[in-house]
Amino acid sequence: MAIVTIQLPHHRYEIQIEPGSLGELGHRVRAVAPHGQCGWVADPTVRALYGDAAESSLADAGYSPVLAEVEPGESAKSLATVEGIYSVFLDAHLERKSPVIALGGGITGDLAGFAAATYLRGVPFIQCPTSLLAMVDSSVGGKTGVNVPQGKNLVGAFYQPALVVTDPLVLRSLPVRELRCGLAECIKHAVIRDKSLFAFIAEHLQNLLDLSVDEMVELVKRNVEIKAAVVMEDEKEKGVRAHLNFGHTFGHAIESAGGYGTILHGEAVGLGMLAASRAAADFGLCSPDLSSELGELLDAVGLPTRADLPSNSALGETMRHDKKVNDDRIRFVLPLRLGEVEIRDDIPQSCIEAGWDFIRR
Ligand SMILES: NC(=O)c1ccc[n+]([C@@H]2O[C@H](COP(=O)([O-])OP(=O)(O)OC[C@H]3O[C@@H](n4cnc5c(N)ncnc54)[C@H](O)[C@@H]3O)[C@@H](O)[C@H]2O)c1
Repeated sequence: MAIVTIQLPHHRYEIQIEPGSLGELGHRVRAVAPHGQCGWVADPTVRALYGDAAESSLADAGYSPVLAEVEPGESAKSLATVEGIYSVFLDAHLERKSPVIALGGGITGDLAGFAAATYLRGVPFIQCPTSLLAMVDSSVGGKTGVNVPQGKNLVGAFYQPALVVTDPLVLRSLPVRELRCGLAECIKHAVIRDKSLFAFIAEHLQNLLDLSVDEMVELVKRNVEIKAAVVMEDEKEKGVRAHLNFGHTFGHAIESAGGYGTILHGEAVGLGMLAASRAAADFGLCSPDLSSELGELLDAVGLPTRADLPSNSALGETMRHDKKVNDDRIRFVLPLRLGEVEIRDDIPQSCIEAGWDFIRR
């Protein structure tokens, strides 16, 4: 088993990465949150695939598990869904010590985490990520939350899990488009922190797409280590944690321009990273080779490198509504070279537009 430990000033937890660990979920949860009852959250797809395994493992460990099923998709990442989760937990009389388990992708994790952070002012939370994106990114670091009509992830809480149980074998049922989205987040980690990870992904791409277990464990572990290091340095995003938003300022605008669901989050992040790299090159921060290299890898993964986009002014308007605007200046995470990024709020409009034009179909 590969274990990555997150050590924060007031909290420590493990991310356990092991093929087959879903079958031991119950005992692992019991080790951090021994209690008679637990709640678990899943969408219908993941419940149908892995719900029985999770539930029987929890029951074997002595829990009476209660399921709060959530609708799939970004539009279900809402306060109304969280309210539905509270109702299930309240009807089942879940208590302060009852753990809540998120079994699913990033949407389930964000919803269940926010519900766990707020139900009875906070109950133990366990992440059991089933998409690659959730394994390498959203299950680590304690960001939870929902979308509101004004924008994505605008309401939420920092709430660290008590444990993360990651079983890479469940990726076998993940649709390939979702697998590619997870790889986009891995490429993001490589660009912001680790040039050798970029090379690893490029070199082992076919084995990764074929879900070779050894390579996948290595990929997940290396990405979790990067995310863990960033979170341990800056838990509440006062500084370097913002580097993880590389590709997101452009990406969120692409997502809302396309309407949530048309372009998946990871696809938008991939396109956003390309636009940001091009903008950075235009601004003189990095070589134009970086956007070419990045574009080639995204393309090899099978991710889009061009999109149908509205006008630059419409996209600019959407970006200004993003929460990462500081005193009316938009902050961008821009690459300097593979493995190093910088936050800038002084990028000229012309460079931003060069970024948009670079990815416009
Ligand atoms: N909290 C954070 O730090 C953080 C970080 C990055 C992204 N996010 C959020 O994560 C969300 C995206 O996450 P996602 O891409 O995992 O979305 P998701 O939760 O919708 O999962 C993707 C799809 O794959 C299905 N699925 C998941 N695991 C499966 C499996 N093993 N087999 C078959 N199907 C499976 C799901 O049912 C869903 O249809 C976004 O809302 C984004 O804002 C949060």
